[in-house]
Amino acid sequence: MNTSEFLDAFERTFKARVPFILIQTTERSRAVELIRDVCARQSVTAYVHTLSKGTMDITTNRVTNEDRSVIGAVDFAAQQMMQRQNLTFVLTELDDVDTDNAFARQLLDTVILASEKGGAIVAVTTKTVWSQVQRLGVSLMLSPPDQDETYINISRQIDDYRGLMPIEWDESDMRRAATILGGVTKIEAENIIAMMAARGSIRKSDFPELMRAKDSVFSDVSGIERVALRPETLNLGGLSGLQKWLQRKRSLLTADLRERVIRPPRGVLLVGVPGCGKSLSAKTIAVQFEIPLYRLDLANLMGMYVGQSEGRLKEALEAADRVAPCVLWIDEIEKGLAAGGSDSSGVTTRMIGQFLFWLQESQARVFVVATANDVSKLPPELLRRGRFDELFFVDLPGSDERREIISLYVERGKLQPLDAGLLEELVELSEGFAGADLEAAVREVVEEAFLNGDAGITPNLYRSSFQNIVPLSRTSPEQIEAIRAWGRERAVPASGQPIGNSTTTAPMRRAVLLG
Ligand SMILES: Nc1ncnc2c1ncn2[C@@H]1O[C@H](COP(=O)(O)OP(=O)(O)OP(=O)(O)O)[C@@H](O)[C@H]1O
Ligand SMILES: [Mg+2]
Repeated sequence: MNTSEFLDAFERTFKARVPFILIQTTERSRAVELIRDVCARQSVTAYVHTLSKGTMDITTNRVTNEDRSVIGAVDFAAQQMMQRQNLTFVLTELDDVDTDNAFARQLLDTVILASEKGGAIVAVTTKTVWSQVQRLGVSLMLSPPDQDETYINISRQIDDYRGLMPIEWDESDMRRAATILGGVTKIEAENIIAMMAARGSIRKSDFPELMRAKDSVFSDVSGIERVALRPETLNLGGLSGLQKWLQRKRSLLTADLRERVIRPPRGVLLVGVPGCGKSLSAKTIAVQFEIPLYRLDLANLMGMYVGQSEGRLKEALEAADRVAPCVLWIDEIEKGLAAGGSDSSGVTTRMIGQFLFWLQESQARVFVVATANDVSKLPPELLRRGRFDELFFVDLPGSDERREIISLYVERGKLQPLDAGLLEELVELSEGFAGADLEAAVREVVEEAFLNGDAGITPNLYRSSFQNIVPLSRTSPEQIEAIRAWGRERAVPASGQPIGNSTTTAPMRRAVLLG
């Protein structure tokens, strides 16, 4: 629950003098602060125990019991409650009370005493408590601050820095920072902003650093894997239809959309010809959106036991919600969620349902990029409107796209720019090539330049290198045509151009020696 829901529930529980209140949270000091406010408002005497100071009066911070041990604190609470009614004790260091043991029994006795004396024991912890104790009380969950609270915290903190250093952030920047820091605890968010301020300014150009900092807070998420990216190695050529569409979505992903009641973009499904940049697109989208990339490996989630796969998928999707904003990349989704597989227990069907439900319901800024090769295996539910924002078909690159991709790899390999005539010749020669084929053809030339120097790079070397590539469209034209026929009917071309069909008639290019 968010802070106001939590406060509401806590105040009522507190007024009702429920003898045991378990507060589950990772933010101990924020929970104690909130409890302190409630105690002050209701003029209740309350004490809080910490390992560093012992037991103190929660409002005055005056130490009332020097014994710092948890057992000492529970003893003290029992003694005090024997003498006075309506006392509240907040324990922040409970450990090892989730099963029946001597200490858990001592806690149970004290809670029973509290119920007799109008007292209350409040446990602030990340753990669970022995069921016998829990049965006498209620359990509340305090989640990290939501976007609005984080915004207030950030703007207060930034206000403190005003006059001390140059601050370029305006309200919309602080709102953006608040969306990025969603799911992060108050202290973590404060630390992140303070570390930026420690450099002597708060700049608009600080956002990538903010992302990285947020990212490191969540470095140990389970079920999804963080993919480190090196933007300089990711050059995507062509696919301009997809690119244009993404630019529009990008601003929606970080904007505050609540006023207009539209939900953040959910993501894209990329299907198409192998080696034409689907996986590469997933990576470049994360770079372009300036948000971290996480990978969800569905095949890896499959467990041996009943319910295990679903449990793991749930955990993974919750983790994605927590690390949002992010790109969640599901490569070869059809392998994890194959329709009509040999799965007799219905696990896959349930997982598809679970995934689609999340895709539709989650309000987190998780942009899903799913890719698929084998379109025949895609479960039809996945393709229905309103699931992914768009279904793109990634085709073999057309001549303009080939020109762009070839030039891109020539430049990346630090080769001399090609003269126009040769470039056109290579574009012709490479009809039917996938992006990966183009990369491989140029790579051969780059390797040669590396081994024997640029002087030996001739147009003929380029020609033969391109001629030696045998693209899939030549070895399996039927396969490509089947994928295209499927795409033509159902998907939007990622190139922005109609889905082509001329490769099957491409001339034979490979120079062969017959002997
Ligand atoms: N449009 C492109 N621009 C630049 N490079 C490309 C392009 N398409 C493919 N490549 C190169 O080919 C490699 C393979 O592409 P990628 O892995 O993205 O293909 P894919 O569509 O995911 O294929 P598969 O279906 O086999 O998984 C990329 O890493 C990149 O080097
Ligand atoms: Mg791929």
